[in-house]
Amino acid sequence: MSYPTLPQSQRAWTFTSRGLPREILALNSDFAVPPPPRGANLLIRVSHVSLNPGCYVAMATIPPLVRRLVSGNREYVSEGEFAGVVHLAGPAAPAHLCSGARVFGCMPVPKLIAGAGTLAEYFVIPAESVALVPDTMRWPEAAGLAGGGQTAFNMLIETTLRPGTRVLVNGASGGVGTMVVQLAKAQGAYIVATCSGANVDLVKSLGADQVVDYRVNTPLPTHLAKAYGAEPFEYILDCIGTQALFEQCASYLTPTGLFVNVGNFEGPGITIWHAMLNTYLPCIFGGVPRRYKMISTTPNGEKAAGLARMVEEGQLRVVVDEVFQFEDAMKVGLRLAPSAQHV
Ligand SMILES: NC(=O)c1ccc[n+]([C@@H]2O[C@H](COP(=O)([O-])OP(=O)(O)OC[C@H]3O[C@@H](n4cnc5c(N)ncnc54)[C@H](OP(=O)(O)O)[C@@H]3O)[C@@H](O)[C@H]2O)c1
Repeated sequence: MSYPTLPQSQRAWTFTSRGLPREILALNSDFAVPPPPRGANLLIRVSHVSLNPGCYVAMATIPPLVRRLVSGNREYVSEGEFAGVVHLAGPAAPAHLCSGARVFGCMPVPKLIAGAGTLAEYFVIPAESVALVPDTMRWPEAAGLAGGGQTAFNMLIETTLRPGTRVLVNGASGGVGTMVVQLAKAQGAYIVATCSGANVDLVKSLGADQVVDYRVNTPLPTHLAKAYGAEPFEYILDCIGTQALFEQCASYLTPTGLFVNVGNFEGPGITIWHAMLNTYLPCIFGGVPRRYKMISTTPNGEKAAGLARMVEEGQLRVVVDEVFQFEDAMKVGLRLAPSAQHV
């Protein structure tokens, strides 16, 4: 197999200011292709990118000045997850990540802050951030496994699950939640999951024992207290960031239980504020008498490889509901506009 020399320019979805994707993203057809990679870096030719709400939040909150100070650039590429082919490998890259290798992964957080995203035809990433795509895995699934899978993996690290451990997964039909349900089920947990009615069958098929439609059972904390107060959960794994769910959880989370949150759908600033209160406010000052932990994604190639093995062994599947052409990326952004408005 031979690989063409690099083109000078490429297409990339870029932005220069702060805001929601539909306000600031534009398709640049003349964006510079990075030079051949140095050290243990890889130049990737992108096949598929999975769009992530966390990146919309970052676009809406990180000031361009910060991005400029970190990167020295004035134009930034969005998104952080991908599946693609190693086009060129730096001289110190591991031998198995040679030109032509099919890989997937997530851009490290400092690079995301710098605006070195993946929604482009080519980009550079450290070799330690990628893993090989299993032969049996299709491109869209590989792209979807990278971020949601590793975030779910990090949430599960906080737990000690035994067969029958009672777990609530909030937001079980999303990129993170679908993975959390499967990873917890693989350890034998008894899972109650929330999602909207249209996704109940999907979430059950992933392993949830009971599914609660959060749109019908409102307010959700009141419903959970009634339905599960007698048999409370040992863990609540929140993939949405629903503050009311934590504030009232003493009614449905055991006194020794743990609430783990990864979501920020209520807005990044307010989520950080709540996370600090939830973690540190003593009960005598009105704090909730339950343990709380907010976690973030720290992706790496080793975790990605572990998830890929689980997919190969049939223990994990990636839910892909639709695939868009590169030039139609904004159709996804527009569809997600209602959530994005929380930003
Ligand atoms: N993906 C990642 O790598 C990653 C990494 C770190 C942090 N996060 C954060 O984790 C959160 C979730 O990300 P994601 O990628 O899973 O998002 P996603 O794929 O857009 O999924 C969000 C899901 O949330 C559900 N939902 C919306 N409002 C809800 C509510 N009030 N109660 C219960 N479910 C609700 C929706 O379910 P229905 O369609 O069934 O209504 C949807 O399936 C975001 O805040 C994101 O920033 C994600």
